[in-house]
Amino acid sequence: MKISIQNLQLKYGSFTAIDNLNLDIEDGESLVLLGQSGCGKTSTMRCIAGLEEPTSGRIIIDDVVVFDSERGINLPPNKRNVGMVFQSYAVWPHMTVAQNVAYSLKRKRLSKAEIDERVIEALTLVGLEQFADRGASLLSGGQMQRVALARSLVMRPSVLMLDEPLSNLDARLRDRLRVELREIQLKLGLTTVYVTHDQHEAFALADRIALLQGGRIVQLGEPRDMYEAPASASIAHFLGVSNIMECAGITTADGSTTARVADGDLLIEASHGETVAAHSPKVCIRAEHLQVTSAPTDNPNSWPGTVRVAGFQGNDVRYAIELEAGPELDALGTLRRGEQHNVGDRVWVAVDAREVQILPAEVFA
Ligand SMILES: Nc1ncnc2c1ncn2[C@@H]1O[C@H](COP(=O)(O)OP(=O)(O)OP(=O)(O)O)[C@@H](O)[C@H]1O
Ligand SMILES: [Mg+2]
Repeated sequence: MKISIQNLQLKYGSFTAIDNLNLDIEDGESLVLLGQSGCGKTSTMRCIAGLEEPTSGRIIIDDVVVFDSERGINLPPNKRNVGMVFQSYAVWPHMTVAQNVAYSLKRKRLSKAEIDERVIEALTLVGLEQFADRGASLLSGGQMQRVALARSLVMRPSVLMLDEPLSNLDARLRDRLRVELREIQLKLGLTTVYVTHDQHEAFALADRIALLQGGRIVQLGEPRDMYEAPASASIAHFLGVSNIMECAGITTADGSTTARVADGDLLIEASHGETVAAHSPKVCIRAEHLQVTSAPTDNPNSWPGTVRVAGFQGNDVRYAIELEAGPELDALGTLRRGEQHNVGDRVWVAVDAREVQILPAEVFA
């Protein structure tokens, strides 16, 4: 099922939670709404599901207009065939796993044979078929989350919406369920809208990510494109780019660009001249793109400095390096790749000009 969201606006009093949002979700697509707390993810989802009445705009699910402020259309949630899974999984503890999953089907007065068949089908999908008769209160958190998912899947929704469904689980379980969720979504060809503030979750689950800031989509695209080319420094920051420095000036010559960093006396070369922004540009470099060496290299983007912090992280070391030219940089050194540097060591930090991005501070300045 396709979803089309047009000029969606949601106000709570004078506060605008969703600001003129436009989004087309393809049939069978996994779309992730990603953004920090309060950016409007849950609000957007609730509007699609019919749990929240938008102030204005239009929502179409598979050619059916489910909301249109101008025409006064607002279909209730049960007429939208949308399944929802929430962060708090609200599984009924006094029922068995199978009864939990069968509950909504019973209310639809389907035959017992059909209910049994669909319950087993849904439990098999989430890997809980052998738990059908177990009391739901006797399940682990991850299993309860699967029951909640099975309860939505059993209704055979045309759209599945999940709002941070894994955030109550420990990291390892989250990683596993994330993969399982993606498998189920692909297997059923389900159009899904998945809400998270976790970029790793978004990257793992999304065909496309819609990145929200302040109720607006500031970037829409495939995970890899977004990772490699964030549209602004604030998006880069949100996506884990840790070296973000204000520019005092930018000069371009022969297809290469040199930025002068505002803090101190540092010149950084970038090969992406075309990305130079007019409005308060910032230099953005990922920690893993910095190389730390104990001797100078022939890279022109190379600066001496002193190791202030060296945090051992198992496979790699996280360095804080204070450059002689001023700023402090966050660098990630792989232990396998070479030497380890210690606090107080004089080192050189280098970066390939192709890994340096000069971005506008914000998408909407
Ligand atoms: N009923 C309400 N009345 C007033 N303001 C609200 C209401 N519900 C949400 N908001 C505000 O709207 C904004 C968006 O809320 P929303 O729940 O969509 O955020 P979110 O992106 O889901 O955040 P989180 O990651 O914390 O769940 C927030 O600033 C929130 O405080
Ligand atoms: Mg939310």
